Amino acid sequence: MGYDARFRVWRGDHDGGALEDFTVEVNEGEVVLDIIHRLQATQAPDLAVRWNCKAGKCGSCSAEVNGRPRLLCMTRMSTFEPDELITVTPMRTFPVVRDLVTDVSFNYEKAREIPSFTPAPDLKPGDYRMRQVDVERSQEFRKCIECFLCQNTCHVVRDHEENKQAFAGPRFLMRIAELEMHPLDVADRRELAQDDQGLGLCNITKCCTEVCPEHIKITDNALIPLKERVVDNKYDPLVWLGNKLFRR
Ligand code: SF4
Ligand code: F3S
Ligand code: FES
Repeated sequence: MGYDARFRVWRGDHDGGALEDFTVEVNEGEVVLDIIHRLQATQAPDLAVRWNCKAGKCGSCSAEVNGRPRLLCMTRMSTFEPDELITVTPMRTFPVVRDLVTDVSFNYEKAREIPSFTPAPDLKPGDYRMRQVDVERSQEFRKCIECFLCQNTCHVVRDHEENKQAFAGPRFLMRIAELEMHPLDVADRRELAQDDQGLGLCNITKCCTEVCPEHIKITDNALIPLKERVVDNKYDPLVWLGNKLFRR
């Protein structure tokens, strides 16, 4: 059964904006992105929203619904009461381009700062051999769809623009952890993680893990093990060597 929902959507650009109220039709099985599209079709043709797959896989439609970081295409209208006021705002941590679209280039800058996979120079591509357990470990991290909801949520940068320079955020600390744990990677990224990418600023609040639509255990499986490796290194450099050698 269809009904009319009350929507409050942030409209504006980098110079400022305001919340605008709408009453809009909702039909069975719809998600918040459907309603935003209906608003575009019927009442606000210039409402800006970024989306692509409508299947929770491209990571484009990240925004905040009633203050919670969500994918708009994976947030079912049936999770709200029909008389509930639903507020949709852009991700708070990144600069607004227009309406619900934010400029996420911070994330691409951080990605570029991480040295890529570095196998030993004498190891040819056809000679890569890994144990299944190592394959599975990095596969969890590679489920990331780069929605940047974790980056948006982490309190280290959410209300602290001044920390952005020093902090890569959970998604990219996870990338460093993935490479650190890779048995065929010979680069040592622990100093990079701690000194340049702000691993020490993470106080394992796990908010990043809570919002990840891919249910990646970012804190438990990436950030905490990376912190342990950094600490091991401080006290015993042989531990790092052992970690690398015994994983082969
Ligand atoms: Fe999104 Fe999860 Fe990847 Fe973070 S780790 S960018 S929340 S998919
Ligand atoms: Fe931030 Fe996640 Fe650490 S929310 S503080 S990166 S555990
Ligand atoms: Fe692709 Fe939502 S539109 S994840």
